[in-house]
Amino acid sequence: MKRRIVILGATGSVGQSTVDLVERSPERFDVVAVTAATKTGALADIAQRTGARLAVVADERGLPDLQARLAGTACAAAAGPVALIEAAQCDADLVIAAIVGCAGLEPVMAAIRAGRTVALANKEALVTAGALMIDAAASSGATILPVDSEHNAIFQCLAGSRSEDVSRLILTASGGPFRDASLADMRAATAAQAVAHPNWSMGAKISVDSATMMNKGLELIEAHFLFGLPSERIDIIVHPQSVVHSMVEFVDGSVLAQLGSPDMRIPIAYAMAWPERMATPADQLDLAAIGRLDFRAPDFDLFPALRIARDALQQGGAAPVVLNAANEVAVGSFLDGRIGFCEIAELVEQALAASSSAAPTSIADVLALDRFVRAGVETAMTTRCAG
Ligand SMILES: NC(=O)c1ccc[n+]([C@@H]2O[C@H](COP(=O)([O-])OP(=O)(O)OC[C@H]3O[C@@H](n4cnc5c(N)ncnc54)[C@H](OP(=O)(O)O)[C@@H]3O)[C@@H](O)[C@H]2O)c1
Repeated sequence: MKRRIVILGATGSVGQSTVDLVERSPERFDVVAVTAATKTGALADIAQRTGARLAVVADERGLPDLQARLAGTACAAAAGPVALIEAAQCDADLVIAAIVGCAGLEPVMAAIRAGRTVALANKEALVTAGALMIDAAASSGATILPVDSEHNAIFQCLAGSRSEDVSRLILTASGGPFRDASLADMRAATAAQAVAHPNWSMGAKISVDSATMMNKGLELIEAHFLFGLPSERIDIIVHPQSVVHSMVEFVDGSVLAQLGSPDMRIPIAYAMAWPERMATPADQLDLAAIGRLDFRAPDFDLFPALRIARDALQQGGAAPVVLNAANEVAVGSFLDGRIGFCEIAELVEQALAASSSAAPTSIADVLALDRFVRAGVETAMTTRCAG
């Protein structure tokens, strides 16, 4: 039986890696629906290549173009937020959640409420609504499979173990393009330098998050919700080679790690084939050629985003939502050339300090708070520029 899959965010970096794996194993997968934000050309191409029956563009202005491109094919075109949710709830065995940012939250929740198995790359959804999402999965019987390479590594290391035997999770971080940079280098960093990740090829937003190391902060929060451990039992270690994707320490002192080439198709394939495994075209790991694996403690002064994210997790309640919303706006503004690289963490910290919001108790609360924080950060940036 082919596994029926929905790919949310099919035109992105994770989405395209998923499509690549589908095309390499057509006997295993039947693509039901694919979605994008605005890129109708790329979406129509993916829909035709995979034989998807539904293609959804989130931006309604893209519908006429998508319809024209899919005319005469067996793939229906749709647009807008409701259609996106319908795609997420399609009758399928697996939903790949690869939309970037909080924009993915409602579709991911829709898939979870429908009891689907969700391969989750969209970490911002979990950061902003982790507790609600885990509760919803428990009620609907949905399964969440982590796609983020670190969480996928931990998931693999945990297989077959009892939660009471786990003492600590150790998230590895490449350190990003500025791991050996000075503060002066970072103050002058351009968007092109920030997105040039040394080990991974990824979308622009996560690449900037890797450069500030906010990505690791978001992953810390993600790990907390996925695996149920408190902040103080989740450590971060810088590992420049990105070969050890993360580790789990057990109460007897054993530490299990998952290793592999830095290729997102490995964790994506793990989620796609779970509980089986499938072949990928990733390079075989050649440890002799790599020669050494280095580790060092992260620098919380040079990368304040790490400290800010850990504080937000410890604070709990609304703080992770504020952290994420402020970071999304600040990263977008940095990519647009409106603010400097170091201002990203400053704006996030400022937003957290200004926030007195209560913990959200519903997805509607999360989305309202997200909008409120975004507006506040926009105002703060305008004030800065005017000053
Ligand atoms: N890339 C990686 O290697 C990697 C690794 C681990 C985790 N992740 C996580 O996976 C997620 C996706 O990352 P990515 O690097 O693949 O991002 P990306 O390349 O920027 O792709 C994002 C996808 O989401 C769609 N999208 C963007 N805004 C949307 C909106 N408002 N409504 C609906 N769809 C929207 C985009 O459509 P358009 O193409 O039309 O804009 C695209 O299909 C992120 O949460 C990231 O943190 C990524």
